[in-house]
Amino acid sequence: MTLRVAVSGASGYAGGEVLRLLASHPEVEIGSITAHSNAGQKLGGLQPHLHALADRVLEPTEVEVLRGHDVVFLALPHGASADIAAELSDDTLVIDAGADHRLESTPMWEKFYGSPHAGTWPYGLPELPGRREKLVGAQRIAVPGCYPTGSLLGLAPGFDAGVLEADDVVIVAASGTSGAGKSLKPHLLGSEAMGSMSPYGVGGMHRHTPEIIQGLSWAAGEEISLSFTPTLAPMPRGILTTATAKFKPGVSVPEIRAAWENAYQDEQFVHLLPEGQWPSTKSVLGSNHVVMQLAVDESSGRVVVVVAVDNLTKGTAGGAIQSMNIALGFPEETGLTAQGVAP
Ligand SMILES: NC(=O)c1ccc[n+]([C@@H]2O[C@H](COP(=O)([O-])OP(=O)(O)OC[C@H]3O[C@@H](n4cnc5c(N)ncnc54)[C@H](OP(=O)(O)O)[C@@H]3O)[C@@H](O)[C@H]2O)c1
Repeated sequence: MTLRVAVSGASGYAGGEVLRLLASHPEVEIGSITAHSNAGQKLGGLQPHLHALADRVLEPTEVEVLRGHDVVFLALPHGASADIAAELSDDTLVIDAGADHRLESTPMWEKFYGSPHAGTWPYGLPELPGRREKLVGAQRIAVPGCYPTGSLLGLAPGFDAGVLEADDVVIVAASGTSGAGKSLKPHLLGSEAMGSMSPYGVGGMHRHTPEIIQGLSWAAGEEISLSFTPTLAPMPRGILTTATAKFKPGVSVPEIRAAWENAYQDEQFVHLLPEGQWPSTKSVLGSNHVVMQLAVDESSGRVVVVVAVDNLTKGTAGGAIQSMNIALGFPEETGLTAQGVAP
């Protein structure tokens, strides 16, 4: 039976990518598509790459419009999804690309988002230890943030295998400008962002910090400490994450490498590259693939992992659809590809 799927935030980057992937998904038909200020517009004028849906008209993002679908994707600014989700029936699978339902800690939510905590849903990163099982049959799914996707996949194997120390994790990540969404912001103008890199949220201020701490602490079985610095890179999409942590005394280099090889050897969408080959964002663009490489820096006692992910595919929409597939019992790769676009 074909499932009817609604996509809210369809005029934005995340909603647009959900639609691009759903358009080739064999088990679904696209029902209502909604927007906010662009409600009433034809999708083709806003998302010209979505040719098959060009004549579809965006409806307002209201519960009455989203009701009656088998699956509802919410690709809205954080804070906008919780009220809508609360009004949708338990029979509807609701998949939230926003942050509202990712964190377990109410104090952390309040500290970083400054609003009441809406609760916690199963976390849509199946390659993180212990998460895939929680997605099977789920009716509510919180899609991970884009920075957490690369950061968690990069370091979780080392914590899960017990080869990393929890007390000194350092992550620096460079993101393409689509990570900030499609609304107009002066620092994202071409004349500001082109040919320049700049940091933001420095000093533990970025909202993805508690989410990365949460996921790595799940893998470590203890609270980790993190310094996270995001930077803006002059490219439309993709994130390159450099994540480092100290390795435990007495652990050998082969043991460290084996932790990552074992974690991802059976995964379709996450891979440790052959030794000597380093990831680049270009190789994963438009794909649900995450690639990484690691080095053991024996002089500093640290493992250094570099991860490439497409923030809009595996970092949002691809991860959302992969999680939908698991929840509904479809093969996990349905409607997704691990092949990128080159050159
Ligand atoms: N961009 C990424 O790489 C990425 C990665 C992971 C997660 N996410 C999350 O996905 C969500 C959407 O991000 P985005 O990058 O797609 O942002 P975006 O490009 O700015 O799109 C936002 C969408 O939400 C709609 N919207 C704006 N204000 C609204 C409101 N008050 N009520 C209902 N709808 C509203 C917009 O409609 P109009 O255009 O009609 O105003 C648009 O469709 C965010 O929670 C973001 O954190 C994004």
